[in-house]
Amino acid sequence: MINQRVERCAREIIENPYSFYEEIRSIDFMYKGSFFKYPGWYVTGYEEASAVLKDHRFQTRMPLPDTTKKYETLKNIQNDMMLFKNPPDHTRLRMLVSHQFTPASIEKYRPFIEKIAIDLFNSIKSKKKIDVISDFAFPFASLVIAKIIGIPDKDKHLFREWALSLIQSIDLTRSRRSIVEGNKTTLEMLSFFKDMIKKRKQSPQDDLISELLKQQKDGELSEEELLATIVLLVIAGHETTVNLIGNSLYCFLTNRDEYKKLKENPSLIKPAIEECLRYESPTQMIAREASEDIELNNVRIKKGDQVYVLIGAANRDPKQFQNADVFDITRNPNPHLAFGSGIHFCLGSALARLEAQIAIQTLCQNTACIHAGTAEVKWRELVGFRAMKEMYVSFEV
Ligand code: HEM
Repeated sequence: MINQRVERCAREIIENPYSFYEEIRSIDFMYKGSFFKYPGWYVTGYEEASAVLKDHRFQTRMPLPDTTKKYETLKNIQNDMMLFKNPPDHTRLRMLVSHQFTPASIEKYRPFIEKIAIDLFNSIKSKKKIDVISDFAFPFASLVIAKIIGIPDKDKHLFREWALSLIQSIDLTRSRRSIVEGNKTTLEMLSFFKDMIKKRKQSPQDDLISELLKQQKDGELSEEELLATIVLLVIAGHETTVNLIGNSLYCFLTNRDEYKKLKENPSLIKPAIEECLRYESPTQMIAREASEDIELNNVRIKKGDQVYVLIGAANRDPKQFQNADVFDITRNPNPHLAFGSGIHFCLGSALARLEAQIAIQTLCQNTACIHAGTAEVKWRELVGFRAMKEMYVSFEV
């Protein structure tokens, strides 16, 4: 019954997933059901979610079925991404780039990221009303990842359409049309990056593409894997970060006391962003498949069963977090699962954290006040991600 209601009320769930999570959590922390036509185990408990993500018997898997040639290019590229690989290929692909994303490697971008934030803020501060997503978060996160990967600034506008299309094609709300669209987008991206790779082969720069090309020469990375890694980093590297910045500002606009606390005490920025990650997690769901029969918390999961870890729910599990539905920027400890856990733990977490801290601090410390431009926020039609379409605000500087 709950399944049918979910289909009927999809829009309501997208607007506010938390009462839906609470409802299924009250039935079971590991709920067996079928939402959005995808049968499997829906995990809402923190302990259970953590256990699934750390257990190698729950493997990552390709999001699309093997049925038609209409989206072959999309499927092939996903097949070469570390995100959808298990060891040993996963370990090899991740090791090739992981050193570039450690907190120490990321720290060297701090002055560059701070400059982007302040330049962008200066260009929008006098406008009557801005859309935080398209006027600030998106150009900010795109410029950062474009610099790291080695994409010219003039091409960064392409990222938005690419990300909107590819994210829609992996979400549970996807339609056949969005998958075919995703295939078209992949073809465009491949043509763009093949051209860039050719240029970097002729004249290497101090960027991630040139670095990966060295590893390709050493035979550690195939041409397809090189392309898939770049596509994954461009999409993962800006989409969820845009959402983290938008969601963080939303948390502050709807929790004014916490905003005041941050304004009066800027050193709270790190725990504040951790709380935004927990409270409005940009990634809401991670999918796994059982590679064998598994018993977990007294339930029997059969080989081949799909497991949907609802991290947005786990991050509000009252068994793990006191006053889980309260936004509290001084929460300590805050062991949220917003970046996942286990071997697929987000590679870009240090970068995402630094970007969000700088973006929110820039807005908070350079304005006297930020006002919500409209009463309601529009959320994108996704269940695996918490992402705003737009959010209008105005500043008093
Ligand atoms: C707020 C921003 C971000 C959030 C919430 C986020 C969230 C996540 C999550 C939950 C996973 C695990 C997926 C799984 O286990 O199936 C993941 C993996 C990943 N993320 Fe992020 N991410 C963010 C930003 C970034 C950035 C900035 C980058 C890169 C520059 C990045 C690159 C990756 C990659 C490559 C993986 C796959 C890692 C692997 O399979 O080993 N992410 N991310």
